[in-house]
Amino acid sequence: ASVTRAGDDCVSIQTGCSNVYIHNVNCGPGHGISIGGLGRDNTKACVTNITVRDIMMHNTMTGVRIKTWQGGSGSVQGVLFSNIQVSEVQLPIVIDQFYCDKSTCKNQSSAVALSGITYEKIKGTYTVKPVHFACSDSLPCIDVTLSNIELQPIQERYHMYNPFCWQTFGELSTPTVPQIDCLQIGKPSSNRIQSDYDSC
Ligand SMILES: *[C@@H]1O[C@H](CO)[C@@H](O)[C@H](O)[C@H]1NC(C)=O
Ligand SMILES: *[C@@H]1O[C@H](CO)[C@@H](O)[C@H](O)[C@H]1NC(C)=O
Repeated sequence: ASVTRAGDDCVSIQTGCSNVYIHNVNCGPGHGISIGGLGRDNTKACVTNITVRDIMMHNTMTGVRIKTWQGGSGSVQGVLFSNIQVSEVQLPIVIDQFYCDKSTCKNQSSAVALSGITYEKIKGTYTVKPVHFACSDSLPCIDVTLSNIELQPIQERYHMYNPFCWQTFGELSTPTVPQIDCLQIGKPSSNRIQSDYDSC
């Protein structure tokens, strides 16, 4: 698989991508940069060692996003998003492990496992919510690191949302703006099941 500029994502990274370096991209309007959707129709997805840096985004729906379907397997490991400048982006930082293009998708226990996701120097303005991390109940996201995050709301909108995290573990290596206190520091107490099924 490969990196494409097709569809409505500015850059889309699909299964099979490893050791990919994306830099100096100008994005928007439209969608932002996405890894996935991965794991559709219970498929296995493997993505490792992805670096996305020096990106400018204006007026996009999402900024940097990882999206996976429930019921998939495999993993996304080692992703660095660095020096991303956003302006008037609805949702600058997104992990969505409940990705669904229908109105409802059944909750399933298997998931594409996410670990080692680093966000550094993500700055600028948003219009809806600065951070949205929705991770799988059965396989929480681990080693999610945030540093140098400075995201300011565009003032005119009447409804802004706070950062959201669900089953997301990791660390804040610097204070962030806004404060992201929904991230759970450290590792999940119950070791998540890493089976051969998840290995890539
Ligand atoms: C990760 O990908 C980069 C290219 O972005 C490559 O230079 C580097 O050697 C890769 N690291 C590993 C451990 O494979
Ligand atoms: C699926 O799981 C999520 C997270 O636990 C929950 O918020 C949502 O309501 C569930 N959806 C259904 C249809 O059960």
